[in-house]
Amino acid sequence: MEFETLAIHAGQEPDAATGAVVPPIYQVSTYKQDGVGGLRGGYEYSRSANPTRTALEECLAAIEGGRRGLAFASGLAAEDTLLRTTCAPGDHVVIPGDAYGGTYRLFAQVQQRWGLDWTASSGHDADDVRAAVRPGATKVVWVETPTNPLLGIVDIAAVADVAHDAGAILVVDNTFASPYLQQPLALGADVVVHSTTKYMGGHSDVIGGALVVADDELAERVTYHQNAMGAVAGPFDAWLVLRGIKTLGVRMDRHCANAERITEVLTAHPKVAQVLYPGLPEHPGHEIAAKQMKAFGGMVSFRVTGGEEEAVAICNRAELFTLGESLGGVESLIEHPGRMTHASAAGSPLEVPGDLVRLSVGIESVDDLVEDLTRALG
Ligand SMILES: Cc1ncc(COP(=O)(O)O)c(C=O)c1O
Repeated sequence: MEFETLAIHAGQEPDAATGAVVPPIYQVSTYKQDGVGGLRGGYEYSRSANPTRTALEECLAAIEGGRRGLAFASGLAAEDTLLRTTCAPGDHVVIPGDAYGGTYRLFAQVQQRWGLDWTASSGHDADDVRAAVRPGATKVVWVETPTNPLLGIVDIAAVADVAHDAGAILVVDNTFASPYLQQPLALGADVVVHSTTKYMGGHSDVIGGALVVADDELAERVTYHQNAMGAVAGPFDAWLVLRGIKTLGVRMDRHCANAERITEVLTAHPKVAQVLYPGLPEHPGHEIAAKQMKAFGGMVSFRVTGGEEEAVAICNRAELFTLGESLGGVESLIEHPGRMTHASAAGSPLEVPGDLVRLSVGIESVDDLVEDLTRALG
């Protein structure tokens, strides 16, 4: 079946008890047993499994082309659970040289204290990753593509080879692209990570995370840790993400079309020094993005000629582009990564330029968006 059909139907047979065409919100913690160990529907306690979460998890596996999907309370909860499953104190991880600030904080402030060693890759090329890998010690190579917030592109197939040659697994954070635009497991990745808070949920009304695993043995171990660590998605949150996924394809088409128009406006504007968008032919990752993505996404970053204070002023002047963190919702957002989403990376190898503005281009009328942005640029 095609992506759009799976997004609406995978894991979502009409409810066996009532025929409800949408999986109900099973807002329940425990399930009556018919005698000790006699489970009626296979469920015993909702941390271990819950029918609404199962529907989401089956859908996630189907749309990413993985063996198993797992839904978590947030993207970072998914990341933490994966790291504790795949690494032990003393192990080494290669992290991206550009990544979500919270992901960096998880490695540098939390996992490092637990004994995990990490190296930030100096760039997005497979050779940069190879230089950072320590054969034998590196257990995980972690990439984002496109990266947050600099929109760098990593060649997933090439980096998968580097990771596997070193005996490590490749984890791809697919939050910016979504499985509609990019399917890392088919390119050789072992695990896909999502902040489902973003495009998957799509409406800025839920915090959630996901892992999709390519291999049964690793899936078993991650499932064990999901239950043992307990950072699961609640039933209502799982239901919201599942509902968002149904329209992911049509929303992404519009996000991409609007973002392309916005990049044209930014490219021509005298106050813009550089537009960072993988759809632009001059972007260093353009060819790889064209090869591994269906379209170039709804995220656009740009650097301004006037420096940090001007970047902040543009964010403050925007109106329809709402000043706020997060991304991937139907409404357009604007932010200053250096002082907002990536403040925790200040002073680190992942520090972002002060003159950078990040846009999450929504699905409103693009003419209204252009008007607002042009006015905010001044
Ligand atoms: C690329 C990326 N990965 C992971 C996360 C973390 O997800 P969450 O905020 O749902 O914990 C974010 C959050 O912004 C993100 O942008």
